[in-house]
Parts: sequence; structure tokens; C-alpha cells
Amino acid sequence: MKNVQSLVREEVANQKAYSIEDTPARVKLDANENPYPLPPRLRSKLSAAMRSVELHHYPEPGSTSLRRAYAKHFGVDEDMILIGNGSDEAIAILCTTMARPGATILIPVPTFAMYRISALNNGYRVLEAPLDEQGDLDIEVMEQQLRTDKPAITFLSYPNNPTGGCFRADRVERLIKASPGVVVVDEAYFHFSGRTFLPKLKQYDRLVILRTLSKVGLAAMRIGFLIGAPELVRELNKVRLPYNMNALSQVAAAFYLEHETAFLEQTTRIRQERERLMRSLCSIRGVQACPTDANFIFFCCKFREDDVYQALLREGILVKKFSRPGAASGIRVTVGTRKENGEFLRIVRSVLV
Ligand SMILES: Cc1ncc(COP(=O)(O)O)c(C=O)c1O
Repeated sequence: MKNVQSLVREEVANQKAYSIEDTPARVKLDANENPYPLPPRLRSKLSAAMRSVELHHYPEPGSTSLRRAYAKHFGVDEDMILIGNGSDEAIAILCTTMARPGATILIPVPTFAMYRISALNNGYRVLEAPLDEQGDLDIEVMEQQLRTDKPAITFLSYPNNPTGGCFRADRVERLIKASPGVVVVDEAYFHFSGRTFLPKLKQYDRLVILRTLSKVGLAAMRIGFLIGAPELVRELNKVRLPYNMNALSQVAAAFYLEHETAFLEQTTRIRQERERLMRSLCSIRGVQACPTDANFIFFCCKFREDDVYQALLREGILVKKFSRPGAASGIRVTVGTRKENGEFLRIVRSVLV
């Protein structure tokens, strides 16, 4: 009998499953989440709203009412929005929809892992363009790749995960103009950068914007948005599963819009903490941190990353380590509460100073 693995598609069999650190940690600074829980008053309100969900019925297909509300929020037409089970799902739907034999995607590296994974799962070849010395897009190389390989999709994380900075907007726009395929500007960290390509949707029908509520305090609810040309969204909806957004998440997404101010108060606090954390981190001898527009900081410490990582782990603090041959190695730390950041800094100092 043939072994089952041999029946699996090569692109899938050759991959390792995306690993998410499950080491129990006291302080989680590895996944770019909001460190603040929902204030108790809002939590009670949200649970009351969830209690009224009729669990014996399917959720509203296509999240129609939500799309209407978010269309207003984003200032676009309803038929330009697809709501996904996290933006991860929107990435997967886009990849499935655009996949053709021999198709490619283009990504700068390092960047968010799911672009590559979703692309490989759909049979694409992945073209990589290492970031330049400043951590920005290597525009000439990428323009050349657009001309020669005509990638079906180019993914740009804006700000870039894991390096943290927004790419120069004029370079992003040059890529949109030069691209024969779709260009995704993934604004998962918009609430910390304040920079967006949303207004450019009017100008470029190949531009797709991604947003998420995961980084502003609702990571557990898995709510992501894809915003693009109606003609494209119509096709994506053929691939999207009919009930992809569960009813509780739909309630949470509507709740976010009603109470956005409270969520934004938290993101303001995170941005303030980010500046303090950055200043303290940069004052430690041997630490080199990349400028950031997100809720995390990428830094390296001259070959001592592993010592730092292990020391943090021993103290119950989880961060994310990057060590891919040929790519930037370093540590990405999520901005936590003032207390969490203080603990983190104390341990980094104890190793390096
Ligand atoms: C750049 C980027 N895009 C998308 C996501 C996924 O977000 P979601 O939780 O909405 O699936 C992440 C999560 O870390 C991310 O860093």
C-alpha cells in the first residue's frame, strides 16, 4: 500500500507546518497582540451582545450587515469588501483565486510568513527580494522581477513584519504602477502607523488593502478585511466559504465599530510605550533596533540573540526569534504594558551589560 504522505501535493509535503510557540509563558511578547484586555465595562457589554446570538442558526452569509458598516468606516463601497476569518484567510482566498499553473508571487524578505505559506499551498513559485540596507524595498530589483516574472501577486506588509518600518510610500506606488498583477498592501499594523493606501484604491484597480482587528485587541475573534476592486472581490467571493465568519465574531466586529474610541485609547498607550521601549532598548550597549511604525520592535545584539532569547524564556517572557540563513537575524519583541516592558528590559540588560 502507498504511504499516505506520498499522495499529498509536493508543495504541501515539502513544507513544515507553521509553528507557533506554545511554550507556556508568563508574558507573551511574541505575537504582536494588544497587551491590554478589554475594560470590564465593555467586556460585559460584549458578552451581553453575544448572549443574544442564536446558536442554532448559521451566521449571516457573507457578513452582509457588517460589510455595510465597514464600507462606511473605510469610505468605500460595500462590494469592495470581503471579511475573513482573520486577514490570514483573506490572504489564502486571494492566493487560491489567482493561482494558475506556473504562477509566481513576489515578496520582500524578511516579511510575514503567511504570504509564502498560502502561496506554496496553492502551487505558486515564490520570488524573493531581500530588503535593502535601510530595511526598505529594493525597488530596482523588484521592478525587474515584475517585468521578467510577472508575478500574479506582490505582497507588501506596511509596516513590515518583522522589521517594523513602513516602506517608502513612493516605492510602494512605483511597484503598484509597474505590477502586471495584484499588489497587496497589508495594513495589519495601521493603528500604530497611521499610514494607509486606502485613498489610492480609486486610482489603482490592482491594489488590494488588508486590515485586521487582531492587533487592536480582538485577536481571539479572528476578524480581517480585504478591500479591493469590486470586480476582484466578486471573484474572491466564489472561493470564500459561505459561512466563513462565525456569528460571535460578527458580533465582535460590529461591537468594535461602536466602541472604537476605547480601542484606540489602548493603541495610543501602546504607541507611547513603544517610544519609551525603543529609547531604553537603544541605550543598551550592543543593541541595534530598527525604526518601527508598528506595535513591535526588531532588534539584534551582535550574535548574542540566542543568549537573550533563552534568558527571557527562562524568566517566562516569550519573544520571537528570527534566524534564517542569509536573512536578517534578530529578535522581535511586541510592545507590552509598562510593567512587561520593564521586565523585558531588565533581562536583556542582565545578559548584555
Ligand atoms: C503583516 C500581517 N498580516 C496579517 C497578519 C494576520 O492577521 P490576522 O490575525 O488578521 O489573521 C499578521 C499577523 O501577525 C501580520 O503580521
